[in-house]
Amino acid sequence: MKHLLSASDLTRDEAVHILDTAGQMAATQAREIKKLPTLRGRTVVNLFFEDSTRTRISFETAAKRLSADVINFSAKGSSVSKGESLKDTALTLQAMGADAVVIRHQASGAPHTLASSGWTHGAVVNAGDGTHQHPTQALLDAYTLRRHLVGDRGRADVSGRDLHGLHVAVVGDVLHSRVARSNVQLLHTLGARVTLVAPPTLVPVGVEAWPCEVSYRLDDVIVDGKPDAIMMLRVQRERMSSAGGGFFPSPLEYSRGYGLDARRLEALPEHAIVLHPGPMNRGLEISADAADSDRAVIVEQVANGVAVRMAVLYLLLAGEQSTTNRSAE
Ligand code: CP
Repeated sequence: MKHLLSASDLTRDEAVHILDTAGQMAATQAREIKKLPTLRGRTVVNLFFEDSTRTRISFETAAKRLSADVINFSAKGSSVSKGESLKDTALTLQAMGADAVVIRHQASGAPHTLASSGWTHGAVVNAGDGTHQHPTQALLDAYTLRRHLVGDRGRADVSGRDLHGLHVAVVGDVLHSRVARSNVQLLHTLGARVTLVAPPTLVPVGVEAWPCEVSYRLDDVIVDGKPDAIMMLRVQRERMSSAGGGFFPSPLEYSRGYGLDARRLEALPEHAIVLHPGPMNRGLEISADAADSDRAVIVEQVANGVAVRMAVLYLLLAGEQSTTNRSAE
């Protein structure tokens, strides 16, 4: 693996290997070995053209826990505001010796452009591009699902290292969600059944070709589908207004039809867990009751994100394959 650009790039074995490695990283943190020397002397650049709290901070934390040097670049306050291009920004950062570039960009495809351009010699990690992909979010979600639902917890009848046998409902603004796209692909690769639930206006054209089921009725999916996990998506109002569209259905209609509240939480199977990638619109896609309930693993998702991103950086920069490549150069 030279880059991580899309969840669809990962085979089942590669994804399981990342999750296993994340488990080892989490174990070192649990033993209070806060810092590993693995990436000493390597430089990780966080190149963020779009706002972020969780992803940017957890990549920074992950890189630092592996002893890498970290350069944080945020488009706000940089020469991007003077019109500097992605190419010139990347060339500037490459001149400072980037071994890996973690990029978030509002344009779908920007990480692929960077990886194929030669503007950077480092590994490129997609930290979210437009409405397209967010592969490390899908990996941390899969890691969280595996920890809670596979083996002796949640669904003891589901065992193994992937998510075979689990049913995950992904609910909400699928149209604008890179998290939904990445999760549908990765969950399918790992053997889970996925049902997307959304109002018709927030379902993308071409969804029939995705490896999942689609429903417009959340209550039916909860009662009949008995999902092992429900993943609530953020309603992305900023992308609706930038696309010139309004919020439809209305916020009240949306939360009545598609919001997770105490009643729906109660109707879920007893072992089912609640995920949300954050940031949350409390009172819209998820009520405060549901977000703060003991079924919600939303804060744990953030912690798991550090372990998963440590695993990704480790495998890209110090894993067997990259070591072989470097010695062959
Ligand atoms: N889940 C996620 O990508 O959150 P941030 O936008 O805060 O990074």
